[in-house]
Amino acid sequence: MELENVSQMRRDQLFEKLKVHGQEHLVRFWNELSETQRSALADQIERIDFPRIAHLFADRDKASEVVELVDRAGEPAAMRLGDQKNRFSPESAIGRGADALTGGRVAVLLVAGGQGTRLGFEHPKGMFPIGPVSKCSIFQIHVEKVVAAARRYGAPVPLYIMVSPATDLETRKFFAENENFGLPETDFRIFCQGTMPAIDDQTGKILLADRGQIALSPDGHGGALAALQAGGALAEMAERGIEQVFYFQVDNPLVDVCSPEFLGYHLLAGSELTSQVVAKQDPKDRVGNVVEVDGRLRVIEYSDLPDSVAERRRADGSLQIWAGSIAVHVFDLAFLLRMSGRADALPFHVAHKRVPFIDEQGRTHQPEKANAYKFERFIFDLLPAAKNALVVEVDPKTHFAPLKNAPGAASDTPESVRAQMVALHADWLRRAGAELAGGAPVEISPLFALDAEQLRGRIAPGTRISQPVYFRP
Ligand code: UD1
Repeated sequence: MELENVSQMRRDQLFEKLKVHGQEHLVRFWNELSETQRSALADQIERIDFPRIAHLFADRDKASEVVELVDRAGEPAAMRLGDQKNRFSPESAIGRGADALTGGRVAVLLVAGGQGTRLGFEHPKGMFPIGPVSKCSIFQIHVEKVVAAARRYGAPVPLYIMVSPATDLETRKFFAENENFGLPETDFRIFCQGTMPAIDDQTGKILLADRGQIALSPDGHGGALAALQAGGALAEMAERGIEQVFYFQVDNPLVDVCSPEFLGYHLLAGSELTSQVVAKQDPKDRVGNVVEVDGRLRVIEYSDLPDSVAERRRADGSLQIWAGSIAVHVFDLAFLLRMSGRADALPFHVAHKRVPFIDEQGRTHQPEKANAYKFERFIFDLLPAAKNALVVEVDPKTHFAPLKNAPGAASDTPESVRAQMVALHADWLRRAGAELAGGAPVEISPLFALDAEQLRGRIAPGTRISQPVYFRP
């Protein structure tokens, strides 16, 4: 049979399938596409769960479950890093966490699939040159922490990085060019998350970004669960003897990756999911709020929290909804395995957004107001299902410097992140006995020291620093 006939048959099959769901417009430009474009479009169509899309559209206006929960939201009980009043002592937690690391039972999951639009950087956010002195990338800092943890505990710490179609190729190339920043191939995996189509807000029709291209976007960091499972990573972890997965986001270079104390509280409490939080300074801080509802922990995003609830205060004036999630978690692997078997383990969140598209005549539109719904899953929605879920409070000054916005914005900019990194490392240096003069920036590679304690053995007391310095091995 001639190629053109085969292609026509394929189109007809797709058309019939799409028609059932009222989405046959997706093959409208079929005849104008090359064979490669046709097969790419057919692939995209085959991966779409049409009944789910119809469902999500039908439910778009339903008052979200969250609104109803918010009223019953109470504060979570929390442990605090380094606090002797905790249910378990910091020393016992550190011992327990270190034991898991020495036993090679901890893996690291870094999510880096976001498009980082607010930062205005045209590459994956992890490639941003954040080092205040070194100008090294955020990825390098994260990976050096993993390499340093593996050395300190004498056991491999495998790193799994989640990317999306938007960040996949460039991220892989960047790591290949930099020889994975020292991580052995066997302990390094990059995997790609799934996507979801954007739909027209009036009709529920899936939008075309181009004649042969559906308007797709990453399915949220919650997509990690399905992607880890589908790609075999969860099974691989289990085979390697991994029991805990330390999770964090690419945008925060201050994360204490594999903190033994944090891991320790999680293990001692028999928790399936433990999250780091910071005390919110302002009711409207743009962070997720960890709350307790009916005896279960959950996160309510800042955008879903009505001002009246956010402003609630205790008798002493402090915020009742106080625990801001910084998106650092430890997951019990058995819990992830259990949840990955459930198709609806994570709900989809709907966002009303501006999405460029082409119309029936093939004309491109750049909408000026929101015209479409996008759908994302959030990994923290696993919290209510986790047994003995736990919250650990950390100090934002030393643990949370998110890079979200472009230079010059009011907060969370490259300048503010670098200032926090310098402040932390200057503090470690002073505690190690160095004298800092003139406010010159300092930076410490994780391979040189992971904390103040380790630095103490590596710096001669009385060392005077008056120039910018980058300490590295
Ligand atoms: C996020 C959290 C918020 C938390 C804050 C801390 C959500 C919805 N909110 O806010 O609770 O207080 O971080 O900084 O997550 N990502 C993917 N794939 C995706 C989407 C995102 O890998 O499809 C990754 C990004 O690369 C990034 C992280 O997830 O590492 C966070 O995404 P982002 O959209 O920037 O979250 P925020 O709204 O800043």
